[in-house]
Amino acid sequence: MMHSELYAALEWYIDMGIDECTDEYACNRLLLPLELQLPKQMTCKAISSAKYVGNDRHHDSQFVHPAFSCNTLEELKICIEQHASKHLLRLGARNMVFADGLVSSKVMVIGEAPGRDEDIQGIPFVGKSGKLLDAMFNAIGLSRSDHQVEKSLYITNILPWKPPDNRAPSTDEVAFFLPFVRQHIYLVKPQIILLMGGTASQHLLGIKGGITKIRGKWYDYKDRDYKAFAMPSLHPAYLLRTTDMKRYSWIDLQRIQRKILELTSPSGA
Ligand code: URA
Repeated sequence: MMHSELYAALEWYIDMGIDECTDEYACNRLLLPLELQLPKQMTCKAISSAKYVGNDRHHDSQFVHPAFSCNTLEELKICIEQHASKHLLRLGARNMVFADGLVSSKVMVIGEAPGRDEDIQGIPFVGKSGKLLDAMFNAIGLSRSDHQVEKSLYITNILPWKPPDNRAPSTDEVAFFLPFVRQHIYLVKPQIILLMGGTASQHLLGIKGGITKIRGKWYDYKDRDYKAFAMPSLHPAYLLRTTDMKRYSWIDLQRIQRKILELTSPSGA
């Protein structure tokens, strides 16, 4: 933009009555619950780094997390909305990003958190890394838009709302939403769970180590009476930045394809 154009834009803002800069961060104040009215000096940056404001009953051994009482995905969605109604992550987000794909799919993909495009559309993995994710799975014959169970995918994230500034989710945020993700998996009951990146892998499998160390191996995922095969793999956003790692991703995808074959062919071939 030319200097004169910038100057004209500024003048236009002033004419419109926008004469004060309040924040570095965009924040949807219409979503602000009354009890969370901001003190004047509290900026959206402060909101985004603050912790969940609510009754923390999670240390009570008798406490059963409300997520585990949900019997359907609809109930779970409502439960997340209600339970997280005071969660500060919601303030800067437009839409909840719950899931996409076929619920009866054998394969469930779990990412980290929505980004800007996902926030706008309310659908997981629709931005640049989503395009790569789709291409990766298409290469082994799987697609979120396929309606056949054997060829479809079901996709979600650990966090249902976009963190401000596209930052990585904090440990507190992951801990807050983990019971909901566990119940999401439990209700969908896929045979195979693919965990994209370190955050999803470490928290859902309880394993330590960087993603490049833990990727490509099968782990048992167990929750109550349900069991599945889980594999950590490289996150497409990481692959976009580190293209020479794509060959490891291809190895993982081939392992996934073999596992699907084993599970679907009667001889286990
Ligand atoms: N990255 C993720 O982990 N999830 C999305 O939905 C988009 C980008």
